[in-house]
Amino acid sequence: MRVLLLGSGGREHAFAWKIAQSPKLSKLFIAPGNPATALLGENVAISATDFEALKEFSLRERIDMIVVGPEDPLVKGIYDYFTTNKETKHIAVIGPSKLGATLEGSKDFAKAFMTRHGVPTAAYRSFTKETLAQAYLFLETLKAPYVLKADGLAAGKGVLIISNLQEAKDELAKMFDGKFGAAGNTVVIEEFLKGIECSVFVLTDGKSYKILPEAKDYKRIGEGDTGLNTGGMGAVSPVPFADAEFMEKVRTRIVEPTVNGFHKDEIAYKGFVFIGLMNDGGEPSVIEYNVRMGDPETEVVLPRLDADILDLFEGVANGTLSEKSFGIKKEAAVTVVCVSGGYPEDYGKGFPISLPETAESIVFHAGTTLKEGTLVTSGGRVLTVTSLGATKEEALKKSYATIEGISFDKMYFRRDIGQDL
Ligand code: AMP
Ligand code: GLY
Repeated sequence: MRVLLLGSGGREHAFAWKIAQSPKLSKLFIAPGNPATALLGENVAISATDFEALKEFSLRERIDMIVVGPEDPLVKGIYDYFTTNKETKHIAVIGPSKLGATLEGSKDFAKAFMTRHGVPTAAYRSFTKETLAQAYLFLETLKAPYVLKADGLAAGKGVLIISNLQEAKDELAKMFDGKFGAAGNTVVIEEFLKGIECSVFVLTDGKSYKILPEAKDYKRIGEGDTGLNTGGMGAVSPVPFADAEFMEKVRTRIVEPTVNGFHKDEIAYKGFVFIGLMNDGGEPSVIEYNVRMGDPETEVVLPRLDADILDLFEGVANGTLSEKSFGIKKEAAVTVVCVSGGYPEDYGKGFPISLPETAESIVFHAGTTLKEGTLVTSGGRVLTVTSLGATKEEALKKSYATIEGISFDKMYFRRDIGQDL
């Protein structure tokens, strides 16, 4: 198979690493990729949302399958663009249709979907500027803390959790006044869920599904889960509290109604569903859907997968996923993200990176580039260091030992990944 992978971060490096191991692969391209994916395939300087250029490239290079890493091209409709065009409909796209991607692109759509299909989630109502007075009344019926969510994509910043009622009302008014741009034209107000979070990853061909290893990520910049939200500072898999009983509840109450919902609502969905869950005393409910894999969760999920990932993707594309099988490694996987000082606020770029010659870990590249032949930082999240071990502790030891040998100016990482479990 000739495969085109879209994206350029740690998640895409992990996908490239896994795809490169497939006996079914004849050629891998990554658009746009990063210096590490260039060692696993061929990088192509095309943006993941430039559909026209991707189409031209795919036809010229006889691409069989496009694997979509980030949500942007999905929300913009890459699946529909390729599958409804005569010239390109033979190319499999691993990812949902534009309608399916609305599960991530609109929180109001996702909540209505869950309600319609009986998927447990926090009680909610949606409001617009015109219904501000009703929104205030609804807030008054809820107990603190108050959860306000901008409906649209807001770069992971659109969720506010506020303990004071008046402050919640003020923030709501600001959202309608453009605090998150058009993403906040509609706001979902929902009940606060208590408990501990984890994420479950599902691969589906729209009819059947496979549940991949679960993971927990660490979103805050500071140790002890303090400070600003980030794209993710680390992740672990498995998650000890996600035992067989919990996962069976997740399967029957959440995954099955979700996949059946795609079918009932005629939503074309051939790709990943990333389900953010709250576990409250063993009872799971859904916080959110994402229509792609997580980053950095992919960097712990894929290393635990004993599978030919292209064989699974072929099942997704052909609607034969139910005939496929795979194993899950018993080992624990952890990943620790090395970020540029200042992230997630202002940070510098272009710092030279030095890497260890050998390591017991896999160093995935998240934000790196080559400048005159030197590897330098090009983003906030720079590298993520994944290790496998008989236990989470053993895996963590390896990742932190590897990080000892990594350096760039103002490098920062959390030393407490996995410590709360
Ligand atoms: P989201 O952008 O939907 O992932 O939300 C960001 C974070 O806000 C989640 O990872 C949770 O930690 C938190 N959150 C979202 N919704 C709720 C809720 N209803 N109750 C408690 N925490 C929530
Ligand atoms: N790590 C969270 C995400 O990928 O959305």
